[in-house]
Amino acid sequence: MGLDSIQEKLEAIETLPTLPTIAMEVNRMLMDYETPLEELTALLKNDQSIVPRILKLVNSAFFGFRSKVGSISHAIVLLGYNMVRNAIVSLTVIDSLKMKKQFEGFDVVEFWRHAAAVAVTSKHLAERARTEAREDAFTAGLLHDIGKLIQAQYFPSYFDKVWTCVRLERLPYSEAEKKARIIDHCQMGAVLARKWRLPDRLVRVVRRHHTAPLKNGGDELSTTVFLADTIVNMFMPLPASFLRREDKRRIFQSLPPALWETFRDSKHWFRDLEEDIEAACKFFISGE
Ligand SMILES: [Fe+2]
Ligand SMILES: [Fe+2]
Repeated sequence: MGLDSIQEKLEAIETLPTLPTIAMEVNRMLMDYETPLEELTALLKNDQSIVPRILKLVNSAFFGFRSKVGSISHAIVLLGYNMVRNAIVSLTVIDSLKMKKQFEGFDVVEFWRHAAAVAVTSKHLAERARTEAREDAFTAGLLHDIGKLIQAQYFPSYFDKVWTCVRLERLPYSEAEKKARIIDHCQMGAVLARKWRLPDRLVRVVRRHHTAPLKNGGDELSTTVFLADTIVNMFMPLPASFLRREDKRRIFQSLPPALWETFRDSKHWFRDLEEDIEAACKFFISGE
């Protein structure tokens, strides 16, 4: 099945998760920097359930600010439009993609644990290396693998094929996808992210998080998420997360120096993130 037919199939799936109108609306408003603050806060007030959760997220150490932000307008003033949008996107995407069903070889809780760990690590990496990607790193890390959920839920025969390959040949997931010659989770995820009109830089991360440093002009955000994913796979490995040694050498030679140095030091700082990762898991998985 080619990418076009995948796109058609995804378009036709009526049960494909949709982003709540509020998230779409917020995305549209925040795209336009002229949107008055009052208009945005008025929209959010229509959905009483989301406001306390946004505030809880922006007040968490793992996402945003350690000080107390008491209202959405205060959050926007302190953190900026972009961070508030990222908080809303993170929350609504997780809500929309919560799957109840378990699939053979696919553990949803493990999936979100990995996503939360990559989110926290991406943010830390971006801050430590002082890159431009700081504001978007958490949300980008959280969403990077959403294509796997789409594969598991809507293309189970693909998913089975890849998983069998992972198990029998001990290949990393993305290598197994290549071998099985299927549309990979990066492309599937990007189709969904575009359908949801997520900002282009997030769509790019979803599409390129396995190849960013290999491509000329690889953007900093995708490279940051790529590195965070690698770090998490080293210290909190999932069954299909091994990276071959020769790939590592090839990839890391091409990194910007600040990111490379921060990456190289990760064994010294990754353990310090445990508490934040745990808190992010609790927040996103069990809503605590
Ligand atoms: Fe991935
Ligand atoms: Fe990943």
